[in-house]
Amino acid sequence: MEKILLIDDDDGLIHFLSRFFKRKGYAVMACTTGNMALERIVVEDFDLILLDYKMPGLNGLDTLKQIKSRQVKTPVIFMTAYGSTDTAIEAMKRGAYDYLVKPFERQELSRIVSEALLLNAQMKQVVRLPGAVPPSAASAPATGLQIIGQSKPMQEVYKLIGQVAEKDVSVLIGGESGTGKELVARAIYHHSRRRDQTFIAINCAAIPENLIESELFGYERGAFTGAERTYIGKMERCDRGTCFLDEIGDMSMAMQAKLLRVLQEGEFERLGGRETIRVDVRMIAATNKDLAKEVHNGRFREDLYWRLKIISVHLPPLRRRTEDIPDLVKYFLARFGAEYAKPVRTLSESAMAQLLAYTWPGNVRELENCMRRALLLCSGDIIAEEHLELQAPQQVQTFSPHNHEQLLESLKSKLELLIPEILRFSQSGIHANIIEMVEEILISKALAACDNNQVQAARLLGISRNTLRHRIKRHHEKHLMDTGEGKGGV
Ligand SMILES: Nc1ncnc2c1ncn2[C@@H]1O[C@H](COP(=O)(O)OP(=O)(O)OP(=O)(O)O)[C@@H](O)[C@H]1O
Ligand SMILES: [Mg+2]
Repeated sequence: MEKILLIDDDDGLIHFLSRFFKRKGYAVMACTTGNMALERIVVEDFDLILLDYKMPGLNGLDTLKQIKSRQVKTPVIFMTAYGSTDTAIEAMKRGAYDYLVKPFERQELSRIVSEALLLNAQMKQVVRLPGAVPPSAASAPATGLQIIGQSKPMQEVYKLIGQVAEKDVSVLIGGESGTGKELVARAIYHHSRRRDQTFIAINCAAIPENLIESELFGYERGAFTGAERTYIGKMERCDRGTCFLDEIGDMSMAMQAKLLRVLQEGEFERLGGRETIRVDVRMIAATNKDLAKEVHNGRFREDLYWRLKIISVHLPPLRRRTEDIPDLVKYFLARFGAEYAKPVRTLSESAMAQLLAYTWPGNVRELENCMRRALLLCSGDIIAEEHLELQAPQQVQTFSPHNHEQLLESLKSKLELLIPEILRFSQSGIHANIIEMVEEILISKALAACDNNQVQAARLLGISRNTLRHRIKRHHEKHLMDTGEGKGGV
């Protein structure tokens, strides 16, 4: 249960807020002076603090300063009376997350509180890298998340994170959807020197184009119709902290220019403001787009691209690291098993084989959802194939360059799965057998696709006609030998 601390000398407001939060399922603690609250936060960790400015004794600003030196990460919402916006802005400069002007609407209160609680959860939920933990012991940590996977490409990712996390440089994270880009961004934050400062994530694709500037850089009162109060943007809120810009490939060119200025000079202006604001923000950006292509097509600034790309981490798709699947399965089953109070289950051999053979277009997210569903659907002890409900591999009708690559990937992952089995049961001669077999299939299918026209088939395969003829002859002879027809004939 999330815990909220109220600091206000107004009994009426405390009463109202306590009831309001308790009804929403939060635990509430109230203190009527700053000093009482400071004693409390030494012994108890809160998820959110609501702090009034005007109190007898220590005022809100001084209390805030003390709070920030103790529970640095707990978001503080500052409450002021109408007409004292300057104090509220000052509080935000000193690290308050947001402010409310009394009297406030329930709706506004709810919105700000849920935003702040989400931020609190994200900042405090540590993402761990697999350290000394052997893969067999991969299980859900008591709190926080863990990045799972011991495959070679993932080991490279961890090495890179280890190298860059503590350095104050910006990082670009690439990879298909669901490969764990956000998880990696959080891991970098938790392993950085800024781990005790704010971490704010912004999804550039989710915020409408006309709102993103004010969201990032804030605005002054009166900057546009409806701008009734000064709004402090996300960049200012994470001064000295880390800003995660998700889906950066979707950012407009105009915003990219402003962002580049923050990266290079550490400065910007609020919308409608004349004052230049200076910030020290570490930027972590992620995208599932090919940014080089975006630059080529004039949709992404080249200078920003190079600036971000200095350190880049690429997350491989799950189909290229199928050896991570058993550990991920174990991890998700342990996590969801605890979440739904269902004892940890295992997978049948054929269910695991199906997971290993699947191509996972939605990557780890798809596997996570698949495991959640399987756990809920399964009533016995073992998860079987029918609980997985994997999408049937899509029939590919056309050979566009895009699905051509996917087909090759799928072939590769199937070979990777089957070849170790073949090795297990074979004695010798495997190399020749497999290569011959693949070649034979390749040639016969190419001939079929070209109506047995050898010139066309050779061109399709990229070999000379002579080589093709030679191979066909050899395969033919081999068959005769195998069936015994050729014996004594040559
Ligand atoms: N290596 C991993 N170990 C454990 N969980 C993982 C791993 N990779 C991804 N996940 C989980 O999979 C889900 C998707 O990961 P995440 O949101 O980081 O992906 P993403 O690359 O940001 O996706 P998108 O591009 O769609 O935003 C999350 O719930 C995350 O916790
Ligand atoms: Mg993401």
